[in-house]
Amino acid sequence: SSFALKPRKAFANSSNSYNLLQPQASYKVAVLGAAGGIGQPLSLLIKMSPLVSSLHLYDIANVKGVAADLSHCNTPSEVIDFTGHGELANCLKGVNVVVIPAGVPRKPGMTRDDLFNINAGIVKTLIEAVADNCPDAFIHIISNPVNSTVPIAAEILKQKGVYDPKKLFGVSTLDVVRANTFVAQKKNLKLIDVDVPVVGGHAGITILPLLSKTKPSVSFTDEEIQELTVRIQNAGTEVVEAKAGAGSATLSMAYAAARFVESSLRALDGDGDVYECAYVQSDLTELPFFASRIKLGRDGVEALIPSDLQGLTEYEQKALEALKPELKASIEKGFGFAQKQA
Ligand code: NAI
Repeated sequence: SSFALKPRKAFANSSNSYNLLQPQASYKVAVLGAAGGIGQPLSLLIKMSPLVSSLHLYDIANVKGVAADLSHCNTPSEVIDFTGHGELANCLKGVNVVVIPAGVPRKPGMTRDDLFNINAGIVKTLIEAVADNCPDAFIHIISNPVNSTVPIAAEILKQKGVYDPKKLFGVSTLDVVRANTFVAQKKNLKLIDVDVPVVGGHAGITILPLLSKTKPSVSFTDEEIQELTVRIQNAGTEVVEAKAGAGSATLSMAYAAARFVESSLRALDGDGDVYECAYVQSDLTELPFFASRIKLGRDGVEALIPSDLQGLTEYEQKALEALKPELKASIEKGFGFAQKQA
């Protein structure tokens, strides 16, 4: 179930193409914002997938060069570039999965919500085009603030009469990737074995790693729980500060988003054992959107996994109650924006 295992297996065989011995499938994936800090490495990782036959790269500028460059990799997918709004519809026709990392990233001192005014409008425009051209596609939203951009997307899709809650995902995979890494480091575990569910949302205290549900089962002191929880919640800010004005997480985000794309493609391809955490429409709490573990199937979300929220520790239960007002406000802000535009 680990994305990281695939390349190791593939490179270990001595074929001259990345995936010659892997099963072939023919899905079309579009990346909107493909020339950006996340878009470029994400497109490279998707180009390596044996499940992709066509990779559509869209941006408002600079995407021609990215596509030309990637198209020289001898993996099976063709790469096609689309520049500017006039080419957006063609980019989306026939696509199975749309990934959206378009928009501005944080600079030091900014919260994800500070990006709302710019990114809300970008997501709205892109989702309108998705609704018109590939309403059946899985939609992966990376653009922040995810807690609000996903509700915006849902409202736009509803206005267009094509909303399928099972196919709209806020990408919170990076929170899980970070939690797995930090827990493995702290507890000296083999990285590839560790799995920590992360629930709630994707900003500050709304990011709630359920350390008590870590697999393999490990015990933490209260201090370790506090330290790890805060580090996972602030990991994005750690990168923003280290980059000192040059942007936010791009490479680890590309890795995480590629894993979520690969999981979606495996689910589309009929694999019956695909689980990820994602921020989706949910009835696990009283909030209309909530990140949790989900089972992915051919039609998108096949099931939410409620068991992670059962038997929480007192610390987790308190943190869950504490995040709800902030997450609720972010969701309502998204709804409010979309309704004003209608
Ligand atoms: P970036 O600025 O490097 O790239 C953004 C790209 O979007 C640029 O190429 C830009 O031309 C393009 N773009 C802008 N307006 C567009 C439009 N209307 N249509 C299509 N493309 C458009 O930013 P970066 O670092 O790639 O981050 C992108 C987004 O991802 C940000 O909102 C950031 O906050 C978010 N992010 C989300 C994470 C998550 O875990 N969900 C983690 C890290 C970043």
